[in-house]
Amino acid sequence: MKDKISIIILAAGKGSRMKSPKAKVLHSISGKPMLYHIIKASLELSNDITVVIAHQKEEVQAQMESFFDDINFVVQDAKNFPGTGGAMKNVAPKNEKVLVLNGDMPLITADALQGFLDTDADVIMSIFDLKDPSGYGRVIIDANNQVQYIVEQKDANETELLTTTVNAGIYAFSKSVIEKYIPLLSDDNAQKEYYLTDVVAQVKKDGLSIAPLLVDEEHFKGVNSKVDLSDSEEIMQNRIKTKWMNAGVIMQLPSTIYIEASVAFEGECIVENGCRICGETLIKESHIKSGSVVEDSIVKNSDVGPLAHLRPASYIEDTHIGNFVEVKKSSLKGVKAGHLSYLGDSQIDEGTNIGAGTITCNYDGVKKFKTIIGKNVFIGSDTQLIAPVTIEDDVMIAAGTTVPSGVVKSGVLALSRTKMRTVKDYFYKHFKV
Ligand code: UD1
Ligand code: CA
Repeated sequence: MKDKISIIILAAGKGSRMKSPKAKVLHSISGKPMLYHIIKASLELSNDITVVIAHQKEEVQAQMESFFDDINFVVQDAKNFPGTGGAMKNVAPKNEKVLVLNGDMPLITADALQGFLDTDADVIMSIFDLKDPSGYGRVIIDANNQVQYIVEQKDANETELLTTTVNAGIYAFSKSVIEKYIPLLSDDNAQKEYYLTDVVAQVKKDGLSIAPLLVDEEHFKGVNSKVDLSDSEEIMQNRIKTKWMNAGVIMQLPSTIYIEASVAFEGECIVENGCRICGETLIKESHIKSGSVVEDSIVKNSDVGPLAHLRPASYIEDTHIGNFVEVKKSSLKGVKAGHLSYLGDSQIDEGTNIGAGTITCNYDGVKKFKTIIGKNVFIGSDTQLIAPVTIEDDVMIAAGTTVPSGVVKSGVLALSRTKMRTVKDYFYKHFKV
């Protein structure tokens, strides 16, 4: 099946309406560039994928190559042939059926594209009806329900602008239609661009078949502005969260939770309101409490938060992480770290209790160093551990201790504390009471 169709993704445009130094197709939805989502869906349908690039082409290509192998890139001559039609000039699809996708439709899925594969016509085009069609090309349909042509908003007259049927921006062409009609496009329009959409009127004139396919905005919404970006993000987030709730995750007030596309859950997990879970994170049979942030980490059989921060490369297993605890690049197994701590570049073993205010001093301003804490260690509150430091098993560290670099041997009490002194009646003198 995958060798039956070719897919071309148009990703060469500047995206001026985004008002951003970043290429539009690289703006992120649920943690991945928009173009990533489109290529991912496309790979389920075809093994001949071509991405047309021009604006910031090196950056777009490099980012996509970091995710995918075997994608073809074609460079558009955007100076001489601007526009979606110009983008099609240099493509050479392998297969007879060719699906053309806009690169700014991150909500597309393989399922949603199935209709293009099941329908037979020289041109299949996607349409939807919108209350507010602004920004989209209007599709002009005659009394016999036949598509006549597509007119871009900037070229449309008053009557055409009233049309609420719009071009969603995905088409299936036969290869011969592309070969014949792309060279015939002209740039005689408001934007002085070669419009791919003009193929429709040409094809119509020659009596070829055009099949309009009614699609939904949930999958075919285009992103032109940052408002569109946030609208699409919301749709994608709902999709991601619904999927995980159906898989057994409990979410409290899901509308306040953000979960990136690359996050996975296993078993029954609870995610409370206001959590942000990002990157390559796996959460298994754990409870993430309100207001916590988890990035590129693994959490198994543990509870985290409220208001905890697991930064990249944290591995948390059978562990309690309480409020205001920040963990980075650390492995905690069978540990209790209930309050107000920074645990960075550390490895902490079973039965160990981390008191409130414990800080691993992992950075000397030049390099980062490791803290290793063994089993059944009791670290008193307000302890600073100056890395590199190793605390062996069965150690007790008194509250307020600064543990210097080196090794603290098993069985000891470590204590560094200046003796407290009191000054009689000082309070009364100071406040004159
Ligand atoms: C396009 C359609 C419009 C449709 C809408 C659906 C045309 C002329 N118009 O408009 O009818 O309603 O999509 O979302 O096709 N691109 C290139 N090279 C270019 C210009 C654009 O590759 O020179 C790419 C862009 O990167 C983008 C896609 O084509 O991914 C669509 O371009 P965009 O400028 O967003 O087109 P719209 O104005 O949205
Ligand atoms: Ca668009």
